[in-house]
Amino acid sequence: MKVYAHRGASGDFPENTMLAFEEAAKTGCYGIELDVHLSKDGKLVIIHDEELKRTTGQPGIVPNYTLEELTSFNAGKTKADSFGFTPIPSFEEYCEFVKKTNLVTNIEMKTGGIFYPGLEEKVIETVRRHGIEDRVVLSSFNPFSCMHAIRLAPEIPCGFLNDTFRIFNFAAMLKVCGFRYYHPGFEFLTDAVAEDCGKRGIGLNIWTVNETSALQKLKEWKAESVITNYPALMLKALMEGA
Ligand code: G3P
Ligand code: CA
Repeated sequence: MKVYAHRGASGDFPENTMLAFEEAAKTGCYGIELDVHLSKDGKLVIIHDEELKRTTGQPGIVPNYTLEELTSFNAGKTKADSFGFTPIPSFEEYCEFVKKTNLVTNIEMKTGGIFYPGLEEKVIETVRRHGIEDRVVLSSFNPFSCMHAIRLAPEIPCGFLNDTFRIFNFAAMLKVCGFRYYHPGFEFLTDAVAEDCGKRGIGLNIWTVNETSALQKLKEWKAESVITNYPALMLKALMEGA
């Protein structure tokens, strides 16, 4: 089973920072999951929430600030600013880092709270310019963003994120719409949907799993990947046959 570091190695380091990504890379994990938004001046930035407060302590929302302003903010609040200055990264900075590795990146397009026109185009242009388009999985809770990305770049795999849809033949819908993956929350996935995804060739990348005791269930579901805040812990458990 593949291991993605959720927001980097965010269990131990400030989420969605270069430090968390670099520490994830050291674990030997398969990939990194991160979240992208657009700044006021239309640049891709890596942060989870629309609101800046939780991770930086700053007031306001991401699209009210320029890239220069956002990257001057310390995103260390989730770890009590105990790692010094760990700024909000630009997506460009991340790509410069990841292209020198073998890591796969799950780019979550955070368009479920604020829709950013042009975000999908910018993500695709950026990964192609850095030559990492074959080591990328796109995803979003917003099905319109996913469908737009699939239309723009059908060769880049896309996973639908959700914890709300209750469509009976869910996997059939994903297949028809060109999805390669389904990214369900662990608590949300059912045996029936997992089995149906398997039959239809839809890979399962399951989040956010931080307890090694859950790995048995993921194996039963034939999950392709686990998305975790603790990549080192999960890798060790998998190595030991969990
Ligand atoms: O991509 C899986 C997971 O990151 C989705 O939830 O809220 O952590 O972005 P969230
Ligand atoms: Ca995410």
